[in-house]
Amino acid sequence: MNPKRKLITLDEFTIQETRQFPNATGELSALLRDIGLACKIINKQVLKAGLVDILGKHGATNVQGEEQMKLDIFANETLISVLQNSADCAGIASEENDNAVCFDDEYSANSKYVVLFDPLDGSSNIDVNAPIGTIFSIYRRVSPLGQPCTMEDFLQPGNKLMAAGYVIYGSSTMMVYATKLSVNGFTLEPSIGEFCLSHPNLKCPEKGKIYSINQGNTCKYDDGMKAFLNYCMESNKEEGRPYSHRYIGSMVADMHRTLIKGGIFMYPADKSNANGKLRLQYECNPMAFLMAAANGLASTGTGNVLDVVPTELHQRVPIYIGSKNLVEKALEFKHSAVNVG
Ligand code: AHG
Ligand code: MN
Ligand code: MN
Repeated sequence: MNPKRKLITLDEFTIQETRQFPNATGELSALLRDIGLACKIINKQVLKAGLVDILGKHGATNVQGEEQMKLDIFANETLISVLQNSADCAGIASEENDNAVCFDDEYSANSKYVVLFDPLDGSSNIDVNAPIGTIFSIYRRVSPLGQPCTMEDFLQPGNKLMAAGYVIYGSSTMMVYATKLSVNGFTLEPSIGEFCLSHPNLKCPEKGKIYSINQGNTCKYDDGMKAFLNYCMESNKEEGRPYSHRYIGSMVADMHRTLIKGGIFMYPADKSNANGKLRLQYECNPMAFLMAAANGLASTGTGNVLDVVPTELHQRVPIYIGSKNLVEKALEFKHSAVNVG
């Protein structure tokens, strides 16, 4: 690489990085590039979201005679069509589809990977112009090559992930992805339409000072959770408490801050939702994998998120994720309350 050149594109970086894997064939880099392409198309549409009343709502027809789609449907269809065209994806599962889609053409039957995604995370934030995102996971399939992929390929635990990440459509658009080797962030350079390496080798600070949770649900949390929230709010100069509370309501945005600044993000179980709200395969596993590669931690409250063996595509799990010290502290409170109770 020319040492004078400052910009490294996503494509250049992934090719270099995946070379470090024995037997790497470049298929994973190609797949990451395809996901990047789909997200650039989604980004273009996200940038126009505020004009929806002028251009026409979901179901309306625009001046070119095209039907306007809701942004989450548009994001879903874009990812599916780009991945169906990709030479390296055998099938997909999406938060927006009831069932996995196994592509049945000859190329896909011989493709090594399946991709799972939340096409548009934080969609309730679209109306208020706050950050939203796309979350993706890549597994190597376990079913034999030469035939369509199977459900088994999609129900693998997070500790089998090959790569995972997200794209945040925020004040700038960024892709952050992890392999077991490292986590790296790429900012979209709009003038050349490329994601360029901007945040190499991201590590989540070990000690965080920000907690992130829908605190409006406190009356539904168990005693351990309530005690931990009180701990976060207590004044204690030695430890730098009280901590700050930040909650955007878009997991991608809350996780991006947690990764960079440190802290903890939680969506625990509560009285009405025994497994919390967030989906294991589309939200929790990819974020847990990324956090683990960045020296952070993710727990369901009873074990590591990455060790949960999924039994169904859309299952939910409680999650405590972020800086090691804060996740461990939250678990301490949770377990001591269980022991007392
Ligand atoms: P999605 O838009 O994909 O349905 O996900 C929304 C999720 C997640 O992004 C966020 O952390 C959480 O819902 C917020 O839930 P509450 O509004 O219950 O706090
Ligand atoms: Mn989501
Ligand atoms: Mn979604």
